[in-house]
Amino acid sequence: MTRIIVATAQPESTRRWRDVMQAALPEFELVEWQPGQTGSGAKYAVVWGPPAEVFQTETGLEAIFNLGAGVDAILGLPGLPDIPIYRLEDAGMAAQMAEYVIHYLSRYSRGFDEYARRQLHSAWSPKQGIVYSRWPVGVMGLGQLGTYVARAVANLGYPVAGWARSPREEEGVEIFHGDAQFKAFLGRTRVLVNLLPLTDQTRGIINRELLQSLLPDAVVINIARGAHVVDEDLLAALDSGKLMAAVLDVFNQEPLPADHPYWLHPKVKMTPHVAAVTLEADAVDQISRRIRLLEEGKPASGLVRRDTGY
Ligand code: NAP
Ligand code: GLV
Repeated sequence: MTRIIVATAQPESTRRWRDVMQAALPEFELVEWQPGQTGSGAKYAVVWGPPAEVFQTETGLEAIFNLGAGVDAILGLPGLPDIPIYRLEDAGMAAQMAEYVIHYLSRYSRGFDEYARRQLHSAWSPKQGIVYSRWPVGVMGLGQLGTYVARAVANLGYPVAGWARSPREEEGVEIFHGDAQFKAFLGRTRVLVNLLPLTDQTRGIINRELLQSLLPDAVVINIARGAHVVDEDLLAALDSGKLMAAVLDVFNQEPLPADHPYWLHPKVKMTPHVAAVTLEADAVDQISRRIRLLEEGKPASGLVRRDTGY
């Protein structure tokens, strides 16, 4: 029977994924990876944040399936074999991302945070209606997740632009692409949403220069990777008044150390890397369908490009 090894950073999580993948793929033998074990002879690996050791012992692998959208953690592993890596495409995460962005955007644009403060004083005090043109939103990264978010926010009436590597057309979204158009994209953006993959090109992209290029009273919503942000530059922009707020779901160090200035900063809202979580049923369905396609000699989508890193 063809074997599939399942490996994550935590034993309980590995066991759970093994069990649900086994239920979906009864014609395969799903094996739980454990530290120190010898190779199982698996043909496929299903992983999330796996230790590099997995690929030193499992030497017969023909493809790797990532239980998430971002592949930066896998691509950084030493000794990673040169075999196809497939990542999740949307798999229920795009809607979660849109919900997250609209939730935090509206706290500022509609003043919901302010109403929460007024409630503490029993103050019945309506604000003026929103003027959407004052809240131009810019989405960095127009892939599976960014495109969905851009459309969802545009549908509410916000002026929305998106920035990607390559050009495209998207109804209701002003498109910018490539390094040459980056400054223009930032210059029309007040609420910046980051949905880029973490690559050599995008590491540290949310830095002093970027932050200074945004419109006044800007809000940064980072829901991609912590290493996109230069923390000192973000804190300086918050403290100088350039930024109205930062909404952070991902951090350079996770879990974020208890003494990090973000925790108690009055302009920072934080969540613990949950903007879009991998949904079990969607992930199992996507990966099992792809494994069966490969077994039939057919191509499967979600293939990661090693040259671009996403
Ligand atoms: P994706 O489909 O691969 O899309 C990536 C987008 O980024 C593409 O539009 C791409 O442009 C653009 N891009 C890449 N490098 C660029 C560069 N140097 N300059 C300009 N644009 C660039 O990725 P996805 O599935 O939407 O996921 C995006 C990221 O979200 C993941 O990599 C992961 O880090 C993060 N994520 C976070 C959470 C969370 O809970 N916080 C959950 C899931 C995912 P082209 O279209 O031109 O190629
Ligand atoms: C989560 O961060 C993912 O990349 O799926």
